Amino acid sequence: MTSQQQRLDDLKKQILNNHITPQLAASATQLVFGDGNPDADLVFIGEAPGKNEDLQGIPFVGAAGRFLNEMLATIDLKREDIYITNIVKYRPPDNRDPLPDEKTAFLPYLQAQLDIIEPLLVVTLGRHSLNCFLPDLQISKVHGQPKRHGEHVYLPLFHPAAALYNGGMRQTLIDDFAKIPEIMKLINQSK
Ligand code: URA
Repeated sequence: MTSQQQRLDDLKKQILNNHITPQLAASATQLVFGDGNPDADLVFIGEAPGKNEDLQGIPFVGAAGRFLNEMLATIDLKREDIYITNIVKYRPPDNRDPLPDEKTAFLPYLQAQLDIIEPLLVVTLGRHSLNCFLPDLQISKVHGQPKRHGEHVYLPLFHPAAALYNGGMRQTLIDDFAKIPEIMKLINQSK
């Protein structure tokens, strides 16, 4: 096992040992910590697990996840190439939006995941994920535009679950997604 995987495993144990969001933990089936390559150049961050994710313990395995996998394939990437996680790591009851307190409780662990993985680009999926890192930006205005902030470069994208059944937003997400290889190239060149 790589040392990065070991550190991620330790971080997962810390969330359990520290009893983060005990109410959510009690109503959820399990912690959905994250999945993929612990040394990835690209990290995707969603909102919170849904029903399928809660049952399988893996982020983005439902309809939104399948759409995401299709978009990854268009830029020659597989799920094993990237790392994927959520802000909130337990399923909120009835798929309600995560509460501000819940997002705050998980933020240090999300930051720690990024510190371990050290990706070139952090792709935020949806407004909750964007506003966790860049609270003053509006997704409708900045989607598809890379933003450097602190140690990371962020690419805000629409959430695939929101875009799945909305034709206009779906095409915008596909177009924004197609920019990822060029953005990665530019980041690599500026290192
Ligand atoms: N939506 C999310 O934000 N995360 C998941 O893991 C699944 C759906």
